[in-house]
Amino acid sequence: MRRKIVAGNWKMNKNLQEGIALAKELNEMLAIDKPNCGVVICTPFIHLASVTPVVDNAIIGVGAENCADKVSGAYTGEVSAEMVASTGAQYVILGHSERRAYYHETVEILAEKVKLALANGLRPIFCIGEVLEEREAGKQNEVVEAQLASVFNLSAEDFGKIILAYEPVWAIGTGKTATPEQAQEIHAHIRSLIAGKYGKEVADNTSILYGGSCKPSNAKELFAKPDVDGGLIGGAALKAADFKGIIDAFK
Ligand code: PGA
Repeated sequence: MRRKIVAGNWKMNKNLQEGIALAKELNEMLAIDKPNCGVVICTPFIHLASVTPVVDNAIIGVGAENCADKVSGAYTGEVSAEMVASTGAQYVILGHSERRAYYHETVEILAEKVKLALANGLRPIFCIGEVLEEREAGKQNEVVEAQLASVFNLSAEDFGKIILAYEPVWAIGTGKTATPEQAQEIHAHIRSLIAGKYGKEVADNTSILYGGSCKPSNAKELFAKPDVDGGLIGGAALKAADFKGIIDAFK
C-alpha cells in the first residue's frame, strides 16, 4: 500500500547555518518521538550536502527543490540531477507552481527534468494544481490532467517512483486551505487518471500529497481523507515544532 508522507519545502528561506540548525532540531525531535509516516525535507541546493549528514536517513529523507533539464555543460547557474544525487539527497520537487509561473517551466521542460531525476536515482515530488481563475471556471480537473502529461510518458515502473503533490495555487502561502472535501474530490480524480493510464494497482500505490496552507491545525482532517496521503508543506516547514505538529497528524 502507498506511503504516507509529510514533505517540507523550504523554498528560498534559511541561510546555511539556519538550515542546518533546523534540520538538526527536527532530527532530534523525531529521534525521540518517531513519526508514523515518511518525512522529507526539501532544501535549497546549497544546503543539501550539509543537511544530509546531520539527519538520520532512516527517518528523514532529503530533497532538492528543483534540478536542471540538461545533463551537464555550459548552463551557468544550473544544478544537475546528478549533482543533487551526489550530495546524498534522494528526492527532488519538480513542477512547483512557483517554478511554472516565475521561471516558465513548461510541460516539456518538466518532462526532461523528471527523466533526468529518475535517471540519477532521485524520486520526484511532482507538483500539479490550478490557479484561482481555473478553479472558479471549474477547470481544475482538466488543468491537472494537462500537467500530468510530464509524467504520463513514463513507463509504469518509472511512474511508480513518482510522488504527486496536488497544490491549488490559490491556497499556497495565502492562508486559504482547500477544504478536506475539495482535496479529496480532486485527489480521487487524479488517482482515477493514473488508473486509466497505468491501471488500478499503480494508482493505489501512488502517494498523492496535498499542499497549500497546510498547518498543524488542519493537517489531521485533510490527511483523514482516503485519497490524501500526506502533505507538501511550505511556511509551516520552517519551524520544527510546526512541521512536527503536521507529522503528528498521522498519530
Ligand atoms: P504553503 O506552501 O504551505 O506555505 O502554502 C506550500 C507549497 O508551496 O509547497
